[in-house]
Parts: sequence; structure tokens; C-alpha cells
Amino acid sequence: MQASTERTSFPVSSLLDGSVTDFDLFLSVKGEDILYAAPGYCWTRDETTRLLAHGWNDFRVDAVQASLVQMYLQLARLPLVEKDQAPARRINSLQDLAASFTQCLYSGEVSVAAVHFGQKIAKGIVDCLMENQASVKEISALMDHDQYTFYHSARVAVFATAMSISMGVTDEKHLQRIATGGLFHDVGKKDVPLDVINKPGALDQAEWQKMRSHPSQGHDALKAAGLSLETMEIVLHHHERMNGSGYPHGLQQSGIMTEVQIAAVADIYDALTSSRSYQKRKSRYEALDFMKHKLLGTDISPTAFRGLVAALT
Ligand SMILES: [Fe+2]
Ligand SMILES: [Fe+2]
Repeated sequence: MQASTERTSFPVSSLLDGSVTDFDLFLSVKGEDILYAAPGYCWTRDETTRLLAHGWNDFRVDAVQASLVQMYLQLARLPLVEKDQAPARRINSLQDLAASFTQCLYSGEVSVAAVHFGQKIAKGIVDCLMENQASVKEISALMDHDQYTFYHSARVAVFATAMSISMGVTDEKHLQRIATGGLFHDVGKKDVPLDVINKPGALDQAEWQKMRSHPSQGHDALKAAGLSLETMEIVLHHHERMNGSGYPHGLQQSGIMTEVQIAAVADIYDALTSSRSYQKRKSRYEALDFMKHKLLGTDISPTAFRGLVAALT
């Protein structure tokens, strides 16, 4: 049975330092494929350098795992963000990287490698904001509405992290869990057609139903990824509202985890300050004013809102 398995080659040089592969990698030895790395294997530059030095240029991978391989290779081609860039520049590079990452996620499978890659971006965002919290102000919300879909998650990750820092969260791991939640919060939208996401007019019932299912679908897609409770709660409950008018569960007040309340405020703020096919963007002041007068106390948490104001002003 082993002999009949269809396999293709996979270049060793495309393995990223610190990345995790979620498919089987075989070495071809005297015509026989020997399993070298099972799913979950973590790669170091030292190991790939050693393999290449010994003339092992290619692994063999199963054709049935092609979608996982494809996702890994797409991610491996994304540009790295240099750590020596100043925070103000780095935050924009991270935003671009996160947008390309989200685009990959929307076109493929939410694989373990993809989740791992996302967590590295989240770590980059936290490192950057811990170094210079004011760099949150450098990220740009100005772009057309098609781009919005991909950039939105990056900005929610950045805003939610900056808000948490200004609310007194200092634990790096805790911040990374929040940033990861921001990055993945809308991943369930990958199965909603872009023309529905960007539809200028009102959604019909079927479209609205599809849109409303994105928190649960995202949560389902990430279930096996071993993410933290805070991250998973952000994905599942970022559309809950303080007065119980949100979805999917109509949670209220303290029933909504603080981290989720923060992400929800970041999510709303970014939607208001972005240009969408159905809405002109609001300035920072207009958005904060709108949130204060229309949403505070009903939809959004006053504490999280104060965190947003403190992070942005
Ligand atoms: Fe959402
Ligand atoms: Fe969102």
C-alpha cells in the first residue's frame, strides 16, 4: 500500500526557521520513502542547513496532503519583518504581513502551520507595542474596501493589544493571546463570498445568516489548533454586545470575557474608521465620538472604551 502512495517533491530550502509542518515529510533513500518528520515537527535553521549540506535537497510529500503543503508554501513565501526596523515602521510591515497572511487563510485551509504562523505575527505585534506603545497610531486604516477584509484583522490585533497595554496588562503571553484573537477573529468569514462581505446594500436573509455564522464557523475551524481560551472566546464572541443584543449567544455584561470586550471595541472602531463599500470612513475623532454617544453603555464596555481612548490619544 505504501508503494502505491502518490508523492511529490518538497524543497528543503523552503522550510522556515521556527516553523511547524503539519504534513508527513519523507526522505527518499535508495528508492524507498522513509518518514523523516511527522505532523507537528518544528524546524530550525540548523537542521535545514545540515540536510542541505548532506545533499538532501528535497523531501517527498503525500499528494493527499497537498492542501496543507500548499498553505505552508504560500506562508513560506511571505516576506519576513526585520526586527531591527523602528517600531513605527515595523508595525506597518507587520500589518502588511498580517494582511497577506489573512489572504492566504481565506484562500486555503486553516492548518496547524497557519495557526502557528499567525501566532508568530501576534508575537511580533506584541513585541513592537511593548517597545513603543505609541506605534499603534502609525497603522493606517486608509484603503479600499476589498483590502479592508484582509487588513482589518491585523488592525484589530494591534488595537486590542494597545488597548490592553493601556489598561494595565503587562504579561507578554496574555497580550499574545489577545493579539492572536484579533488576528483570527474573523477567520470564519473565509467561507462567506467577498461580494457578500462587501455588499453595498442590505443583505438578504440567507446572506445575513451566513454572515452571522462566521464567529461559530471560525471557532469550529480553530477548535483543533490548541489555542488559548481567551483567543477562542474572542473568535466566538466578538459580536456579543453588553446589552445582550449581539450574537451568537446573546451574552451580556460580565458574561462577556474582558478580553472579548476589548476585541469587540477594537473591531467596531476599525470598522468605523475604514472605508467600506457601504460607508464613508469616519475620522478618529468622529469614530470615538460616535462610540461614546451611540454605543457606550448599551453595546460596548465603558472600561474597554476608556482603554481605546487611552491607547489612541
Ligand atoms: Fe466578525
Ligand atoms: Fe471583525
